[in-house]
Amino acid sequence: MSHQFDLFDDGRNEILSSPDYGVFRDRLVSSGCMRCPLSEGRTHIVVDRGNPEARLMFIGEGPGENEDREGLAFVGRAGKLMDALMAEIGLDTNRDSLIVNVVKCRPPQNRAPREEEAGECLPYLKKQIELVRPRLIALLGATALKYIVPRREVSSMEQAVGKIFKCPEYPGVDFMVLYHPAYLLYDPRKKRVMMEHLELLKSLLLEKGITA
Ligand code: URA
Repeated sequence: MSHQFDLFDDGRNEILSSPDYGVFRDRLVSSGCMRCPLSEGRTHIVVDRGNPEARLMFIGEGPGENEDREGLAFVGRAGKLMDALMAEIGLDTNRDSLIVNVVKCRPPQNRAPREEEAGECLPYLKKQIELVRPRLIALLGATALKYIVPRREVSSMEQAVGKIFKCPEYPGVDFMVLYHPAYLLYDPRKKRVMMEHLELLKSLLLEKGITA
């Protein structure tokens, strides 16, 4: 997967031509990226949290207040819930997965990222997928689904969650849509069905020989 060369942004070209994930991460963190207005309000560019060697990737929406302060993805309430749910199926988010977001800078008031903001940031997410080469990608919520699989028409999250599918742009990767953990904080009754989906995810990982 090669990226579109940007005639006017050498910093961007340098990040997107990183030879490995560690270099990519360092370059993006220190880039001072100002390609969209989200850069104006951020403290940190939040690249990820977890293990880039893991074959399971979670994709969320964008950093919140805690993530912006700490420079790590999913470290606030939603992230702690995510850690707890993963622990219930015997997985450690930091060891067994890499957690990333559609946008790397915090949207004000935690609103959903705008199309142009997500559009500017997507090449970074695509580069993360290219360098990490996950075998399973779990899309956390509607924003991740919308930007990673734009052609997949879904009428509701209820219809999308828990389904496993492939995507021609990412050969060899299985995709699954999950509720965003922030939604479970809002509606804890959904936790039961989320656990069923996580059990399915775990069995898929075992089937693929991915996890311990
Ligand atoms: N919600 C997200 O989508 N991402 C984070 O990093 C934190 C909360």
